Amino acid sequence: MEIQGDIGRVLVIIPTYNERENIESIAGRVRAAVPAADVLVVDDNSPDGTGSLADEMAADDEQIKVLHRSGKEGLGAAYIAGFRWAAEHGYEVMVEMDADGSHQPEELPLLLTALQDADLVLGARWVPGGKVVNWPKSREVLSRGGNTYARLMLGIPLHDATGGYRAFRATTLEKIGLDAVDSRGYCFQVDLALRALRQGLRVVEVPITFVERVHGTSKMSQNIVAEAMWRVTVWGVQGRLGRGR
Ligand code: GDD
Ligand code: MN
Repeated sequence: MEIQGDIGRVLVIIPTYNERENIESIAGRVRAAVPAADVLVVDDNSPDGTGSLADEMAADDEQIKVLHRSGKEGLGAAYIAGFRWAAEHGYEVMVEMDADGSHQPEELPLLLTALQDADLVLGARWVPGGKVVNWPKSREVLSRGGNTYARLMLGIPLHDATGGYRAFRATTLEKIGLDAVDSRGYCFQVDLALRALRQGLRVVEVPITFVERVHGTSKMSQNIVAEAMWRVTVWGVQGRLGRGR
């Protein structure tokens, strides 16, 4: 699959915490699917040694880079560090992708092509053509419910604001202003989508097929769900009171 048109230098940011069994496969698939794109692994000092494996991969391929952080601080913090690194190194497009194979690198050209007419592209499961493979019913109910709640509470036109497969223009992240973002867990995703919409930016959803991981475990927790619930509620109430961010 070819990307249509030129969108500039692309960095695919892959946060990792205990993804030793997955990191080689995902990085290889990204490099094969979009050879022009560079890869940045952002590792939070994984106890399973993902960080040192990533260093070995980087030694063999100059398009693979590694950012080491001292400890587990959540997905949002890892992405913010990755976005800052990308901006410092002059990338024009930043992609978010999970390490576990849930986001298929082979679909990345679809996201990058859509970015030509958008400021932020969301890979979306809960739209026509979108799919989830091998998720337990409980996880689907949580994701669909969370997305419906966010759409109604925040009054946003999105169907998958919590998804983690996305492409941003560098200018979009500049306009959003990362300094003000303090979401730690997965509600970071809703936070950035909301900020982009409130800046009047063009946010487009493209259907993806999300495939549940085979190796390793999800880092989703009750704390992460609780953070997302209360933050979305606070943002929704603030918006209604006209103090919108
Ligand atoms: N560096 C770092 N630090 N990476 C992390 C951390 C952290 O604290 N927490 C999770 N990750 C990495 C994982 O190693 C994986 O590569 C990616 O972030 C996603 O984590 P998973 O634990 O596999 O997430 P999930 O499958 O439960 O959730 C996915 O779907 C959610 C929506 O339903 C993700 O795509 C989320 O972003 C998304 O909100
Ligand atoms: Mn996952």
